[in-house]
Amino acid sequence: MERRKSSSRPPKQAKPAKKTKIAKTALGHEPEKRTRKKSAPMKGEAGQRELNVHVKTAKRREYGSTLWLKRQLNDPYVRKAKAEGWRSRAAFKLLELDEKFGLLKPGARIVDLGCAPGGWCQVAVKTVGKRGRVVGVDYLFVPAVPGVEILEMDFLDADAPGKLKEMLGGAADVVLSDMAAPTTGHRSTDHLRIVALAEVALDFAEDALSPGGAFVCKVFAGGAEGELLARLKTNFELVKHAKPKASRSDSAEKYVVAIGFKGAS
Ligand SMILES: C[S@@+](CC[C@H](N)C(=O)[O-])C[C@H]1O[C@@H](n2cnc3c(N)ncnc32)[C@H](O)[C@@H]1O
Repeated sequence: MERRKSSSRPPKQAKPAKKTKIAKTALGHEPEKRTRKKSAPMKGEAGQRELNVHVKTAKRREYGSTLWLKRQLNDPYVRKAKAEGWRSRAAFKLLELDEKFGLLKPGARIVDLGCAPGGWCQVAVKTVGKRGRVVGVDYLFVPAVPGVEILEMDFLDADAPGKLKEMLGGAADVVLSDMAAPTTGHRSTDHLRIVALAEVALDFAEDALSPGGAFVCKVFAGGAEGELLARLKTNFELVKHAKPKASRSDSAEKYVVAIGFKGAS
């Protein structure tokens, strides 16, 4: 049987592309193709562009660590802190709280509880200057911060408050606490732990502050700080909550700022 010829036409041969003359550069090279780069969206935080550094999961690296590393590498505050010479992104939280509440003054005595790696110490010493005094405590080693005296000790150790007061050499103007215990992942346990640390920090502040002094403390949103707030409202003129922009929006962390200590009762 005769095969029917296909009615479809043979495909058209593509015409060879016209060779366009490309002007050469002064050095005789062809110029690089100019393409329009798509601009990345601004995140707003820290006025930095949002990064998207991809992190491969290494064989021996746990998934959680990979996520942490990815978050660090893509965090505009981490980059900004590195560029500006701050020890931690947390430095921006204190800078913002100070700007809002006018906490740090030249010549002031400041105590920084839970100070590693030293970002808040750097911010504090920069403002109080040589006439002031900054002392910090952490159970982690903190590389020296010029102008700051650091106690490597657990603040919950019975001797720690006395040592800090001795190092300060007088009543404190501001007690800062950014203390946070390592998280367990169990929300209410983590919350109770942070409230317990805040209460011990407030015990210290009530003992060490001079009248008119201020107390700044990290707390977690989600209740159970009622007692702490009641104490603060009794002993300070003004009590406010603040969530600095540098505090991650997906974190329950916030700060309680108490100003105008009424004096030891
Ligand atoms: C979020 S970090 C502080 C960051 C610091 N503000 C900065 O700017 O670099 C919390 C610190 O609290 C410390 N910390 C938690 N519990 C403590 C305790 N009982 N005594 C001393 N330090 C403590 C931790 O070791 C950790 O370094």
